[in-house]
Amino acid sequence: MIPHSRPVFGADSARAVSAVVHGGHTARGPVSEALEERIASLTGRTHAAAVDSGTSALMLALRALAVDGRELRRVGVPAYACRALLHAVRACGAEPVFMDCAADLRLDRVQAEALAPMLDAVIINHPFGLIEPLVAEAWPCPVIEDIAQAAGGRIGEDELGGFGDISIASFYATKPWGGAYGGMVLSSLSCYVEQVFRMRNADAADVSLPYAGNHQMSDVHASLAISRLDKASVEIEQRRSLALRYDDYLQGKSAEPVRRDALCNHYRYIVRVEDAVRVVEAFRTHGVAAAHPVSMPLSRLMGQVCPGADVAMQQCVSLPVLADMSDAEEDQMCKAMAACL
Ligand SMILES: Cc1ncc(COP(=O)(O)O)c(C=O)c1O
Repeated sequence: MIPHSRPVFGADSARAVSAVVHGGHTARGPVSEALEERIASLTGRTHAAAVDSGTSALMLALRALAVDGRELRRVGVPAYACRALLHAVRACGAEPVFMDCAADLRLDRVQAEALAPMLDAVIINHPFGLIEPLVAEAWPCPVIEDIAQAAGGRIGEDELGGFGDISIASFYATKPWGGAYGGMVLSSLSCYVEQVFRMRNADAADVSLPYAGNHQMSDVHASLAISRLDKASVEIEQRRSLALRYDDYLQGKSAEPVRRDALCNHYRYIVRVEDAVRVVEAFRTHGVAAAHPVSMPLSRLMGQVCPGADVAMQQCVSLPVLADMSDAEEDQMCKAMAACL
């Protein structure tokens, strides 16, 4: 079966982990610090805090926004997104306000603009590596940019991760910068990141804080993430050229690829079909682990209706676009597309 995701680890990754283990210091240390510096400089931020997951990064970023007494009651969340966003908002005791997606899976601009005045904060992601232009626009509330899936993409000259008041990244294995587990909170304002420093080490945290936990990133995880980061731009190019070939294979088919931006990271290759459930099953019988980009819209999980997200759930399929896909696997993909679409 061609997997939906396949992180590329080489001998360098094994050497990096081995060096940490043999160094005898596996918890947070110089490697996590080096990762913080590297991601901060890549995204143009001045402050970075490495944490244990992207979900923790979101939750800590939301809590950090309250450092100056701000109360978070309603937080805007894209409806067609990963569950981590919903869990993070709920963990902070805030109400998620769902922002629907348009046909291109970016936010429905008109609805987002109508909701914005009633939000205390908003999380904006770049879904499946596609670029969300609204992140670069002015919002009446603090913005958390989520680059978990879009790391390495750009808007013009500006790297993703540099937008909003705070940005967060994930280093989960299947993510573009993924080692095994990990996350990061980034900002150009020291107050937010310093608040995350205070909250991420339970043993040292002041009891007056509304929340603290053990959320530091280990040097083992950081060393794996750095080894992925070293290859990230080569992998983007590999996925970009594969995605262009998929566009050719789809010529004359009823499946419509969702519009990609020139500077996106090609993390996922999403097509719209009439019946996503049938197509995912068909690909699986042809040895391809196609997937639903989101198993269930977040709005539905909370008993609400966002029509664009519901249609996306019925129609969208994510096809494996692996940086290290072999010729034999690509041939299999091409035949599966011919048979299933
Ligand atoms: C957009 C987005 N944000 C945040 C996360 C959470 O990251 P992690 O898996 O590292 O907790 C995910 C993970 O699936 C994600 O897709």
